[in-house]
Amino acid sequence: MKNGYGSVLWFTGLSGAGKTTTAKAVEKKLLERGRRVELLDGDELRATVCKGLGFSMEDRFENIRRISYIANLLSRNGVDVLVSAISPYKAMREYAKEQIPTFVEIYVKCPLHVCEMRDVKGLYAKARSGEITRFTGVSDPYEEPDNPAITLCTSTSTPEQNVDQVLAWIDVNASTM
Ligand code: PPS
Ligand code: MG
Repeated sequence: MKNGYGSVLWFTGLSGAGKTTTAKAVEKKLLERGRRVELLDGDELRATVCKGLGFSMEDRFENIRRISYIANLLSRNGVDVLVSAISPYKAMREYAKEQIPTFVEIYVKCPLHVCEMRDVKGLYAKARSGEITRFTGVSDPYEEPDNPAITLCTSTSTPEQNVDQVLAWIDVNASTM
């Protein structure tokens, strides 16, 4: 890894696609390997470092700017970082990539109707009723990655398969990053 940097595995995708679940499972595996790991999850950061930010385009960019900054600090100190944040705009993921030498884009892909059927937090129902505005995929954009390093299809593969896919990618590529 470049100058002792940890890798920054950046999980992007719709709400309910499986970003947090997959990132947590990968975190567990990397800890078992003896790595130092931190998980930066959108929901958690929005309750702390990013408290007060909403879901306008500007606030989402600010959110991602702060997350990128923290991810880079950790990474350059040798910590592997797992980011799970919708990061809906290509430009914000490009920004993160420019800031972070070991950025790895992981697209957690799941059709909107499947995310909506899952509706784990009941947010899609609220978005459809208009109770929540600017909801990604419903009333706000999600720009799919053009060329992600990894694509995980969570509607057709199991969580275990998704984790294995990430670990296999790391095993092949981490030494050359
Ligand atoms: S972003 O776009 O990257 O800044 O979003 P992120 O920090 O990942 O926060 C997404 C979580 O916030 C909840 N939530 C919403 N998501 C999208 N759009 C709207 N309007 C919204 N309102 C609340 C939701 O729990 C998201 O978490 P995930 O894990 O993606 O479901
Ligand atoms: Mg989540």
